[in-house]
Amino acid sequence: TPDADVPTTELGFKAVPVSTANEIKVPEGYSSQAFLPWGTPITGSYPEYKPDGTNTGADQEQQVGMHHDGMHFFPIDLKAGGNSSTEGLLVMNHEYINQGALHASGATYNSNGNRPTDEVRKEIAAHGVSVVHIKQDSNGTWDIVFGSPFNRRITGGTEMEIRGPARGYHKLFTKFSPNGNRTRGTLNNCAMGPTPWGTYLAAEENWHGYFKTSAAERPREQVRHGVDGTSRYDWELAENQADAYVRFDVTPGEGSATDDYRNEANTFGYMVEIDPFNPESAPQKRTALGRFGHEGVIFAPVKEGQPVVCYSGDDSRFEYIYKFVSSKPYYAATAGGYLLDEGTLYVARFNEDGTGEWLPLNLNDADFAAKVAQAVTDGVVGSIPFDGFENQADVLVNTRLAADIAGATTMDRPEWGAVDPNSGEVYFTLTNNSNRGKEGYDDVNAANPIVENRTGHIIRWTEAGNDHTATAFEWDIFVFAGEQGTETVVDDEVIVSLTDDNIFNSPDGLWFDYNGRLWIQTDGSDAAPYQNNMMLAANPETREIKRFFVGPVGCEVTGVVTTPDSKTMFVNIQHPDGNWPDSSDPRPRDATVIVTRDDDGVIGA
Ligand code: FEO
Ligand code: CA
Ligand code: CA
Ligand code: CA
Repeated sequence: TPDADVPTTELGFKAVPVSTANEIKVPEGYSSQAFLPWGTPITGSYPEYKPDGTNTGADQEQQVGMHHDGMHFFPIDLKAGGNSSTEGLLVMNHEYINQGALHASGATYNSNGNRPTDEVRKEIAAHGVSVVHIKQDSNGTWDIVFGSPFNRRITGGTEMEIRGPARGYHKLFTKFSPNGNRTRGTLNNCAMGPTPWGTYLAAEENWHGYFKTSAAERPREQVRHGVDGTSRYDWELAENQADAYVRFDVTPGEGSATDDYRNEANTFGYMVEIDPFNPESAPQKRTALGRFGHEGVIFAPVKEGQPVVCYSGDDSRFEYIYKFVSSKPYYAATAGGYLLDEGTLYVARFNEDGTGEWLPLNLNDADFAAKVAQAVTDGVVGSIPFDGFENQADVLVNTRLAADIAGATTMDRPEWGAVDPNSGEVYFTLTNNSNRGKEGYDDVNAANPIVENRTGHIIRWTEAGNDHTATAFEWDIFVFAGEQGTETVVDDEVIVSLTDDNIFNSPDGLWFDYNGRLWIQTDGSDAAPYQNNMMLAANPETREIKRFFVGPVGCEVTGVVTTPDSKTMFVNIQHPDGNWPDSSDPRPRDATVIVTRDDDGVIGA
């Protein structure tokens, strides 16, 4: 809710210089403090963090996970229509892990080549999502509410429901869930999206890396995502060979799909809905939103009686931007996750002339069906053999392939999206794509015009009639990232030329605050001239951009939200590689940073 007293999008702070220091930099008149570092006990028996790495898997299941990423603050009184800025549920993703920091002496292997079971358990537990009930005391200090029933860890092993068209589809049948209705865990949760009904969607991004297969022939559901002969952390090698671990080897066995885990990877790649206010509820994988490398999701503002619309990027080189439009209308009184189970998934085509189209990935759409029929005739999509889709569930499980067939525009790694609360325009970061235009790869196009795009850009569009359900839009490039003097030109006029105050590279996190300032976070090379990764603020009307925050050495800055009054900002620091935030701790610890203004004013104003 905008604060009526505040001029909306002005940037009132003095830009922060680039930095190589192993500490947080914020503007003059602001303060910062690390909060909820990896290993902080939040639930159960509240096991104390041990700096020697000897916390067990069971301990980690009750502590904040690693590699903090997307995050949202839910006011504690939200369900009662309230707007508390002093107490709420901070919900955050833990994307992946640093094995060196997690264990006493890094990842180990037994003499038989297996991995100690408790190391695997701990690694799975350091992934997922944390729900932390936090409260500000009368001195303004934030702390965990110990013993709160809302405090919760969801991990790479938590049981969850499959929802939407792929629920019960045979390609999701496993030994764990022979009817394809359930799975265990969410992995590689990068960004997120708060829903209009007060729940949290965690994205599954680079989930493919957790699985391995020894099969010579891999199904398209694996090939199009890069599931291959190695797994990122070798969880399938756990010494005790429990189902919970061997499932990461998806090689088919002798029997049927319900005797093994050949389909396990088909239960990942979704947006996962978590209700932080209902700690007993199982997370729900919403398959109608598609299966791909979901970076995150952003909802358009809801209107009573109209469909729910949300946007999601697939962060991989030459992948796509998607939009989901619900079949059922939104009514505030009855809204819920069921709205995400039925609808149309579209993929974006950005035309050369600044127009664009949303292409439905729906077998009932005549154009899409004709393209699918042509692909069957061709027998191949790209380099993947193709004999058609069995049904709409098959389309969704193979969303990338469906988008290839539809003729979508390949993008330079779509990361976070954001919707301007004032104009309704949709913004997406395109972080970089060093292969763009190279021999053997897709050429440049108007929306991705940089050969070997190393520093990225931010694109935006307006839906036709400013109606988020429209199938046509007009787009432009908001800004090109890069070094000093990098220009963004509109109608032959230089609208932005980057300076020392705002050079940046590889935009990733993106968020509109409640007043309409755009916050841009980076995950790029931390070499000169950019140095450590950072967060900038932008005025979407003037395209003025100023660096607001610089992170410690080696990190990416990802995840940002404020309290409703815009006076406390939470920012996540992921994969710091020095002794941060505690210089006396030998282990780097991912952490949230609390930023406040010394005069108690609105952040950024
Ligand atoms: Fe996990 Fe695309 O960043
Ligand atoms: Ca990341
Ligand atoms: Ca990201
Ligand atoms: Ca990134």
